[in-house]
Amino acid sequence: MSAQQGPAADLIIRNALVWGTDAPQDLAIFGGRYIAASESGIAGAQEIDAAGRLCIPGFVEPHIHLDKVLLAESVPVNRSGSLNEAIVILGERKATYTVGEIAERAGRIVTSAIANGVTHMRTHIDVDSGCGLVPIDALLEVRRRFAEVIDLQIVAFPQLGIVKDPGTAALLEQAMERGADVVGGMPFNEAGTADSAEHIRIAFEIAQAHDADVDMHIDETDDPNARTLEMLCEATVEAGWQGRVTAGHTCALAAYAQDYADHVIGLVAQAGIHMITNPATNLMLQGRDDDHPKRRGITRVKELLARGVNVSFGQDNLRDMFYPFGRDDPLELAWLTAHAAHMSQPDEIEAVFAMPTVNGARVLGLSDYGTEPGCAGDLVILDAYSAAAAITAKADRSYVIKRGRVVAQTETRTTHDLPVLAV
Ligand code: FE2
Repeated sequence: MSAQQGPAADLIIRNALVWGTDAPQDLAIFGGRYIAASESGIAGAQEIDAAGRLCIPGFVEPHIHLDKVLLAESVPVNRSGSLNEAIVILGERKATYTVGEIAERAGRIVTSAIANGVTHMRTHIDVDSGCGLVPIDALLEVRRRFAEVIDLQIVAFPQLGIVKDPGTAALLEQAMERGADVVGGMPFNEAGTADSAEHIRIAFEIAQAHDADVDMHIDETDDPNARTLEMLCEATVEAGWQGRVTAGHTCALAAYAQDYADHVIGLVAQAGIHMITNPATNLMLQGRDDDHPKRRGITRVKELLARGVNVSFGQDNLRDMFYPFGRDDPLELAWLTAHAAHMSQPDEIEAVFAMPTVNGARVLGLSDYGTEPGCAGDLVILDAYSAAAAITAKADRSYVIKRGRVVAQTETRTTHDLPVLAV
């Protein structure tokens, strides 16, 4: 390598097989951003040989509830396993919330997510009359603490309703003023259609006042009569917020009759709404009370993709009263999503891999996600040579690089004295 004038880059990654390309290439990062790595080869202050392994500009986690993570350690067991009982248990636990303990729990999961290759995250944080802005303040603290190693977007999330829970509209406004990035919502959790519409109207009013995106929990129910996805589409077009609105969960879409589902998916496509499926939580929570055959609870992923809708997935809940497992590993969730959405063909597996990468970046509105010159200098080197192999093995995140700095490394080593029958 030639370095007559000293290092020209902070970090060079040699032989990186960037997902979506055909051949390994060298990548160069300077000042926290990608620069062109000339074919003659420039030198870096630090160099890593990716050895042809698969590289991505980081995983994007678009939907996780960091204020609730790990609450299973400190609450009664959800005996029914239902969403309703979980919300009751949560309401009682909120009386003991402090900024410090929420930040401690959230910080533990942010740390493990980074080690899992997550470079960007969007988190839904409760705002209601019970907890006030304590969880928001906690996550603002977490965002400050981890600012150098992860980009964190905070959604102000009125889980208990806006009309139903008086004072919440003002709290949402205050949350945005304090530094929340995105206006959340849960319009199905209102007393009726008119209140759901008012919930959406208020959320858009606040979003427009703050020039913020909207990301709502939509129809997290098996009830085929839930209609807030259609209402969200109408509000999005009316506000001119196409491309800036995300709908999470949308379980009812799976329960709709085919003709109505087709109609609503058309509206989602027209409104440019991003869709998030959360298969871990919703496979666990939805369909519990069905007789066989039981509904699966996850939204119509393949049908949405077929209509050109941007679909990503998230962890949602993690070791709390809603869901007992999870470690915010996008490869674990990719494996689960492929199963839950019946995505088994090679091109479908690639489509699943797009969800926590390029699709998630679109949800978060990231304009500098990629490895082209000028993009943020984020990279994850996976110990695999294809997306399918990475998902199969939950491959080690060999290196996690944030703005040109290695922030985590993983190497799993197995030794054995067995004959190798197959590789
Ligand atoms: Fe959620």
